[in-house]
Amino acid sequence: MHTQYKTPDIIHNPTWMAFRDEVQRMRQKKDMLILAHNYQRPEIIEVADIVGDSLELAIHAQNATASVIVVCGVRFMAETAKLLNPRKKVLIPRDDAGCPLADQLTPEEIVEAKAAYPGAPFVIYVNSTAACKAESDITCTSSNAVDIVRSLPQKTILCGPDSNLAAFVQKHVPEKKIIPVPGNGACPIHNEISIEDIKAARKIGGYIVCHPECPPVVADAADAVLSTGKMKAAIADHQVCHIFTEASMKYLLQKAWPGKILYGLDTAICENMQKTRPEDLLTCITQEVCEISVDETYAPRARAAIEKMIGHYANT
Ligand code: 13P
Repeated sequence: MHTQYKTPDIIHNPTWMAFRDEVQRMRQKKDMLILAHNYQRPEIIEVADIVGDSLELAIHAQNATASVIVVCGVRFMAETAKLLNPRKKVLIPRDDAGCPLADQLTPEEIVEAKAAYPGAPFVIYVNSTAACKAESDITCTSSNAVDIVRSLPQKTILCGPDSNLAAFVQKHVPEKKIIPVPGNGACPIHNEISIEDIKAARKIGGYIVCHPECPPVVADAADAVLSTGKMKAAIADHQVCHIFTEASMKYLLQKAWPGKILYGLDTAICENMQKTRPEDLLTCITQEVCEISVDETYAPRARAAIEKMIGHYANT
């Protein structure tokens, strides 16, 4: 359902306040940095030290000086944090929070694709396993995929696992040939967003923003196609906005712009992102459970692919 957003009142809830105080106590006692992805529940967002998109969280994890990094998000984000800051203890409150998109690509498919297109680099979306990153040349996120692909000297680029992101990159980098691997990988939540949803938004009027994981027909019809981290600034000049991405993104946008009228699909819910509840975070930080480790047989190569992306980002 395409509905107008109404902000839940989290911060005046006494149960949440008690949770916040306990998180604060543990964070200081144990020297923890809490990172939360933009799609996390408001209760989690409100206690995190840093809230951001995949790239922002990766950069903060790399620069973290705290003894323990807690990643409220999905597994690939915690793996990325561990790879970028391997001496730190990295915890994820729910170690069953996966990413169905990441599961759609195997290391073998990358090896096969590279054999089929000799010399073509594999640009892997961070929404992927560490084992897949290890077979790839460089990672990208939704916020820098176009820049990363443009920066490469080769004309043919392999790109996976998200075929919608690959199509978005192809549109913006027409001088190169982008080969999606596998051909049909997609985020099940963003892939469900349809042109009918955009038409419904157009009838209401206002500015339409979508995430690059949406199908090309949706992205083409939107006013802006952006990573979650870039949405806040993008809606600055628009009073009525339609946000086509995971439903909870609107909490942060409404917080940043209380006067705006925001619409979105309340059915676009990523179960994995929503798994982390206050009680999970509390258990994680008090008992220090769900520690992330990355297999050393492929960790160094996966790290190299992510560091190459961050190095590029730092230089631009
Ligand atoms: P962002 O990096 O844009 O936050 O995207 C992360 C993600 O998993 C989108 O589904």
